Amino acid sequence: MQRRELPRTYRIKSFGCQMNVYDGERMGELLAAQGMAPAAEGEEAELVVLNTCHIREKAAEKVYSDIGRLLKTDGDAPAPMIAVAGCVAQAEGEEIMARAPGVGVVVGPQAYHRLPDLLAQAAGGTRATDTDMPADAKFAALPRRRRSAPAAFLTVQEGCDKFCTYCVVPYTRGAEISRPFGDLLAEAQLLVEAGAREITLLGQNVNAWAGQDEAARPLGLDGLIRRLAAVDGLERIRYTTSHPNDVTDGLIAAHGEVAKLMPYLHLPVQSGSDRVLRAMNRSHTADSYLRVLERFRAARPDLALSGDFIVGFPGETEAEFAETLRIVEAAGYAHAFSFKYSPRPGTPAATMDGQVAAEVMDDRLQRLQATIARGQMAFNAASVGRRCTVLVERRGKKPGQWLGKSPWLQSVFFTGDAAIGDLVEVELAQAGPNSLEGRLLQLAAA
Ligand code: 5AD
Ligand code: SF4
Repeated sequence: MQRRELPRTYRIKSFGCQMNVYDGERMGELLAAQGMAPAAEGEEAELVVLNTCHIREKAAEKVYSDIGRLLKTDGDAPAPMIAVAGCVAQAEGEEIMARAPGVGVVVGPQAYHRLPDLLAQAAGGTRATDTDMPADAKFAALPRRRRSAPAAFLTVQEGCDKFCTYCVVPYTRGAEISRPFGDLLAEAQLLVEAGAREITLLGQNVNAWAGQDEAARPLGLDGLIRRLAAVDGLERIRYTTSHPNDVTDGLIAAHGEVAKLMPYLHLPVQSGSDRVLRAMNRSHTADSYLRVLERFRAARPDLALSGDFIVGFPGETEAEFAETLRIVEAAGYAHAFSFKYSPRPGTPAATMDGQVAAEVMDDRLQRLQATIARGQMAFNAASVGRRCTVLVERRGKKPGQWLGKSPWLQSVFFTGDAAIGDLVEVELAQAGPNSLEGRLLQLAAA
């Protein structure tokens, strides 16, 4: 690799989950602290960071096509420096270096605080890789938070010890770690000072968060939520992603008691078939899932439920798939994500017998998505007439129009006098499949 100047401008492209969005923001802050500037819209950046996702094959393949496109510059413009970050970097770092000589830096999700050093090395002519999973906290090495959108993410827990047989996360993000309570409280306060009014607590298995308060008393996720609810200026709290087996009584109770905790729960079930759930190593059944849900709804009857589903897991029969359709009806989702099973290298399911044909998966996915869409439309339609707050996140397409989120995480648009970051009171007037129209009542007293 040739020597070159250190890049002065950067662009970060994050793919995949919300934690990648969070990591992308933190990398941006890190680069800005080095004196680099984000590339202006429409302009080429001197450094492009691809913050990648490895969860499904399609997501991972995208990296190589993106690299190819970035290196194909027309005329005299030099190709940008390319850094591959995120979970593909972790899982396939060596392969990327071998397949794509134009990549200068490969950096894993637990090592990106070292990005400035790695960039300096690449600029000096030596390609640099760091996919260590050090026990020392990358978080401590990141700059203070200074800017935030009204709805911010905060990583509280990383990694996963569950080892569902289809999933790469335990390999790419590593073992479960919890960030210390004091650090989280401090970051939440900084985010609020920087403009956040809503914070979503992120973790691959966020229920596994464990910490201690100032007096060394143990705190779980519910305790963390209760303490964050006392932060002035923070108006809304959410968390994701939950595992049905790690839900505590305290967390369920918090949904009934903490006003700032939004009535929304992302609780993936993956399949409605107990045989498939066992093969997935999910360690819950369809029934135990529905019982957990009942307890949440007893605490918070208006809870909006969201979930994840995989169709075509190895060996899944038509009858087992039909059980998935049944649990969708039984659970009542306000929203859900569904995916075709994608064999991931190194995971146990990738070598299981009974891999399902692509056409069968396509057909099942279509039927599942139609069922989910009906549930989502029904949930939105049932919201019409409700009065609620909307956190304004951006302008809409029409003049005077604003877009934000309801407590149930529905997209709501309305026209009237408002500004980004306002918490306004609306009446939900009309429902569509993916959004609702609201009628502005007033600015909510915060
Ligand atoms: N194939 C398809 N979907 C997957 N997910 C995780 N691993 C795979 C895979 N190999 C889905 C799960 C998980 C969500 C984040 O992605 O539904 O909850
Ligand atoms: Fe993957 Fe299962 Fe862990 Fe979720 S709980 S990150 S699906 S291994």
